[in-house]
Amino acid sequence: MTSSTTDVPKISFQNVSRRFGDGAGSFLALDRLSLDIADGEFVTVVGPSGCGKSTAMNIAAGLTEVSDGRVLVDGKDVHGPGPERGVIFQQYALFPWLTVRQNVEFGLRIKGMPATERRRISDHFINLVGLADFADALPKTLSGGMKQRCAIARAYAVNPTILLMDEPFGALDALTRVGMQDQLLDTWTQERRTVVFITHDVDEAVYLANRVIVMAARPGRLQEIIPVDLPYPRTEAMRLSPEFAEVRNRVWHAVYHQKPQIESNI
Ligand SMILES: Nc1ncnc2c1ncn2[C@@H]1O[C@H](COP(=O)(O)OP(=O)(O)OP(=O)(O)O)[C@@H](O)[C@H]1O
Ligand SMILES: [Mg+2]
Repeated sequence: MTSSTTDVPKISFQNVSRRFGDGAGSFLALDRLSLDIADGEFVTVVGPSGCGKSTAMNIAAGLTEVSDGRVLVDGKDVHGPGPERGVIFQQYALFPWLTVRQNVEFGLRIKGMPATERRRISDHFINLVGLADFADALPKTLSGGMKQRCAIARAYAVNPTILLMDEPFGALDALTRVGMQDQLLDTWTQERRTVVFITHDVDEAVYLANRVIVMAARPGRLQEIIPVDLPYPRTEAMRLSPEFAEVRNRVWHAVYHQKPQIESNI
């Protein structure tokens, strides 16, 4: 990799604001967010409900327009979705008429990939998320957590350089969730994608991240960036360490003890 490619942030939010509605009833969901995310970084985003986390992610995904400012991916303005950005939503978004395997292969089929190659890749990711026994099942027959795991396999399968994940593990039971965290870190260390991961779970935010981005609400804005100076691979022992507790406490404080907001900014 040349230095010029590493110098350009993978994702750059530059003074990004987003207002919903017009006039007196309008609402400033995001207020001048500036943030650079480096190639290969893993950032997690936490903050109270309504602080603009999903709005920021949808803007980076090219699904929502900015009202002001710009977002660059690989140095280029975002004007819509792109294959280099895989998105996993808060609500699993599967095609209900397709089986698990067909959902996972969907993006590969669009790329024109031959059937045998598609099958090899879908087998790999369906196994990874523990859905091998349900490859031919339709989404309506799956539990919420299983649907979400299918959505994750589908996003991984197209091999995007950026994963934008909006509370992807929120619907999973605690045990599956911890397993998915480790799997996500495994694939990330092997393939060094850039990951932006929204969560309400402070432990999850610290366990996964290089940096935790803390946001504040009304208006939605950047509150604090907290580095996590724990080495990878992260381990169970690390979760229980005093160093981990220290970062967790810092994040907790930043999220739950935010100063009262200035209502005139809204
Ligand atoms: N399409 C929309 N139209 C109007 N208001 C919107 C729209 N999308 C989001 N908002 C408002 O913008 C604010 C930020 O919403 P957003 O979904 O980004 O928050 P969030 O941080 O993801 O919250 P949560 O943690 O609950 O998912 C909220 O007050 C929400 O009501
Ligand atoms: Mg959200």
